[in-house]
Amino acid sequence: MKSLIVILTLLYACVVKAQEYEFPEDFQFGVATASYQIEGAWDHGGKGENIWDRMTHERSYLIEDGSNGDHACLSYYKTEEDVQLLKDLGVHFYRFSISWSRILPTGHANKINQEGIDYYNDLIDRLIAAEITPFITMFHWDLPQPLQEIGGWPNALLADIFVDYADVLYKVFGDRVKDWITFNEPAQICEQGYATADKAPAYTQEGIGGYLCAHTLLIAHGKAYRLYYQDYHEEQQGRVGITIDTGMYMPADEESPDDEEAAERTIQMYYGWHAHPIFSADGDYPQIMKDRVLAKSLEEGFPKSRLPSFTDAEIAMIRGSSDFLGLNHYTSSYCTTIPDEWVLQRPSNYADIEAWCYASPDWETSGSSWLTVYPEGLRKLLIWIKERYNNPEIIITENGFSDKDGSLNDCRRVNYFNSYLEQVLLAIHVDKVNVTRYTAWSLMDNFEWRRGYTERFGIHHVDFDDDERPRTAKMSAYVLKNIILTKKINW
Ligand code: NOJ
Repeated sequence: MKSLIVILTLLYACVVKAQEYEFPEDFQFGVATASYQIEGAWDHGGKGENIWDRMTHERSYLIEDGSNGDHACLSYYKTEEDVQLLKDLGVHFYRFSISWSRILPTGHANKINQEGIDYYNDLIDRLIAAEITPFITMFHWDLPQPLQEIGGWPNALLADIFVDYADVLYKVFGDRVKDWITFNEPAQICEQGYATADKAPAYTQEGIGGYLCAHTLLIAHGKAYRLYYQDYHEEQQGRVGITIDTGMYMPADEESPDDEEAAERTIQMYYGWHAHPIFSADGDYPQIMKDRVLAKSLEEGFPKSRLPSFTDAEIAMIRGSSDFLGLNHYTSSYCTTIPDEWVLQRPSNYADIEAWCYASPDWETSGSSWLTVYPEGLRKLLIWIKERYNNPEIIITENGFSDKDGSLNDCRRVNYFNSYLEQVLLAIHVDKVNVTRYTAWSLMDNFEWRRGYTERFGIHHVDFDDDERPRTAKMSAYVLKNIILTKKINW
C-alpha cells in the first residue's frame, strides 16, 4: 500500500510537473511536407523527371502498394487550400521542400523553368500574407534523373551542381525566405539510396556507395552554406542549416559496458557521421567511425578505408556550417553487440557499426514497422546533442506518428504528440536544452516512399480514392492547434 502511494505521488508529480511548464513566448510551431510526397503533377508545369518518378515507374514492385507520387495529394494545384489549412492550424511556419526538377528540369542551373519558380513564388507569397514563415528544404530526396545518370550523389561533381541549384534558390526566393535547410536526412539519402537500396535510386554499392554519397553531400552542404554568407547574407539576413535524423540509442543493459559502447557507437556512426563534421569542434567524421571502417576495410582486403577522408580545407569549410541543428526524430531503440554468427553481413554503414538495436516489446507500436513510441528517448537525445555539440540551437524539423487506417479520431497520434512535446518541455525547462521550434510530420497524409499510401502520418486525412484528394482535419489537428494557441499541452 505504501509503495502504491509512493508510485501514485510520483506519477502525479511527474504529470503535473510537465503540465506546469509552458513553451517559451518565442517558441514556434510548424508542420512539414516534402515535394515528391504531396505535389503530384509529376510531368506538369515544365518539371523534369526525378529519381522517384523513374524508380516508381520502372520498378513499381519496390513500392508496397505499387503506387507512386504522380498525383500524390495534388498540392501543386491546391496552394490556396493548403495555405488555408495552415492558417486554420495557426502555425508559425511551414516546412516544405522544393522539387529540384521543377526549378531545374535537367538538374543544371543553365536551364531554369519559370513555371516552377512561379509555383513556389505563389506559395511563398501566400504564406507570408498569412504571416506564416516559409521554411524551405532544398533537397528532400527527389534528385533530378539526369544527375543520377552521371552517378548520383556518390559522384563528387554533384557537390558543385547542388551549390549552383542553391544559388538559384537564394537568388529567386531569398528576398522573402529566411530559413533554409540544405538536406533532409543524409543517412537515408545515402545509405538507403546507394547501399541498402531501400530508397531511390535503389542502387547497391555495398560498403562504399553510402559513404561516397555522404561525403559529396557534406561538401555540398558546406559550400552552399558558405555561398550564402559570401553572397547573400548581408542583404537577405537569413539562416542556413541541415536536418539530420536519428533515434535515441540506449544500452540494452545499462550495467553492461559492451552494450553502452554498442549504443554510443551506433549514435556516433549513424548520426555523428553527418553531425560531427558540422557541429563538433574537430569537424570530421567521428574518430570511432574512422577507426572501425578502416579496420573493417583492411580485414576485407581493401587497401585503405572505405570511408573517404576530408582535406584540412574541407574540414574547415564544413565545420560550423550550420546556423541551427535540424533534428528529425521519431523513435528509439536499445542496442547490444551482435551475435557472432551475424558478423558476416554484407558491408554497409549498418554492418560497420556492428550493433543490434531493437525496440522494447513494451513500447506502443504504430503503422510503421520501424516506429515505436518511447517519448523519453527524445529528451535523452536532446541532452546527448546538447552535451556532445556544445549546446547548439536545435529545431525539431520532424516528429510524428503513423497509422494504417487514417482514422479522423486519431487518439494514438494525439497521445504521441502530447507525450513527445512533454519531453520537449522538460528538456527546455529542466535540462536547459536550446530547442526553439517544433515541427509535426505531416500536414497531411501523403506518399510514404517505399510504403506508398499504406502508412499515414497526416494530421489531415487525404482521400486518395477521390480524384479531388479532399483533406479533412483529424483530431490531432485540433489538438495541435490548441497547443499552439495556448503554448501548453492540454492532456
Ligand atoms: C522522414 C522523412 O523526412 C519523411 O519524408 C518521411 O515521410 C517521414 N520520415 C516518415 O517516415
